[in-house]
Amino acid sequence: MEFDITYVKALQVLDSRGNPTIEVLVVTEGGGYGRAIAPAGASRGKKEAVDLRDGGVRFLGMGVSKAVEAVNKVLGPALVGLNSSDYRLVDKKIVEIDGTQNKSRVGGNACVATSLANIKAAADTMGVPLFTFIGGFKARLLPTPLMNIINGGVHAGNELAFQEFMIIPVGADKFSEALRIGVEIYWNLKKFLKERYGPSATNVGDEGGFAPPLKRVEEALEALSEATKLAGYSLDNDVLIGIDAAASQFYDEKSSKYLVDKRLLSTEELLSMYLDLTDRYPIAYLEDPFSEESPAAFRDLRTSLKNKTLVIGDDLTVTREDLITQYLRGGFIDGAIIKVNQVGTYTEAENSVRALLSSGGKAIISHRSGETEDNTIAHIAVGLETGLIKTGAPARGERTAKYNELLRIEDYLGDEALFAGRKPLTK
Ligand code: PGA
Ligand code: ZN
Repeated sequence: MEFDITYVKALQVLDSRGNPTIEVLVVTEGGGYGRAIAPAGASRGKKEAVDLRDGGVRFLGMGVSKAVEAVNKVLGPALVGLNSSDYRLVDKKIVEIDGTQNKSRVGGNACVATSLANIKAAADTMGVPLFTFIGGFKARLLPTPLMNIINGGVHAGNELAFQEFMIIPVGADKFSEALRIGVEIYWNLKKFLKERYGPSATNVGDEGGFAPPLKRVEEALEALSEATKLAGYSLDNDVLIGIDAAASQFYDEKSSKYLVDKRLLSTEELLSMYLDLTDRYPIAYLEDPFSEESPAAFRDLRTSLKNKTLVIGDDLTVTREDLITQYLRGGFIDGAIIKVNQVGTYTEAENSVRALLSSGGKAIISHRSGETEDNTIAHIAVGLETGLIKTGAPARGERTAKYNELLRIEDYLGDEALFAGRKPLTK
């Protein structure tokens, strides 16, 4: 049968940080093929699927030849003969063969590259774009981009505690126009940072945003506001602000305090800081505001913020349907980040998206800080009609690969294309 998998082959390639990662090729009997590359996070949640790495001295221990071998010798042979379009069955097989909760046997990296290569091969066999394979012919909603244009935390060599400062261009009626607004603000931010802090302030971090030597969170928010005004846009009307604090990274477990702006803050003090900042800036989106060990603080913040700002889990929820459902039902979060490599297979990620959307939650399809030219997440966002995507600054090839694919999808859909705009940012 034309959808049957005939060939699976893995290869070690490189990601955007120069670390080895795994690429998998899946070919079907009908001549369809799909290639996918595993991304890699730097600020990972404790409950994420783990990547299989070689250790030793080659590539400083980061090689993935064991994961490549796991695909070539174990996963691949077990998938040959299965119907690629029955991706739930293919992914079930991957999950069964690995047999661990965190994909540590064959490796989350091996699982994700294989699972995504399979849906791409199925779409290719069917002769439709991946987003159509995923969502059918009704899928035509382009997502609102959350564009991380100032990098801090473990993604940058500066002293900003919070990891990501994002602009969210909502005042457009097309994706391409929203992207243009984002680009114009990015360039005005570059000018602003150069004038105020000198040329080295325009060096970029892991996700393509600038990594200026700012010391306080508020300086970064001020820079975003200034850049937005310089570009001729108005905060609130055209552009909203998003923050991914990635707070597990600056949480000190011993003292139970957070190191922000050179001060050690208690959970209550950090909560007050968020309330103050959201009062003074149009912050519509707050991801991982507290450590993943402190879910109750997410709920307290969400209650105090009322309807102004979405509270989103990432390290807290790690794309797992059980955790997402638990925290969404309990009122801890308004939604969750979806990273296929946090769980290991497309099916598990899709289940999490459906669980979120069917209960009024927000699902944000997301890249990792270590990325590649693989643009699959653009198709997942459109196919599952999440209305939201996080894929970094509009710069660096591994980030623009996703934006450019969204531009292609919008162009392909023509008048049929819809743009999510402000709606997904409101409760
Ligand atoms: P990571 O960060 O890919 O380095 O884990 C991204 C995020 O926290 O959203
Ligand atoms: Zn995050």
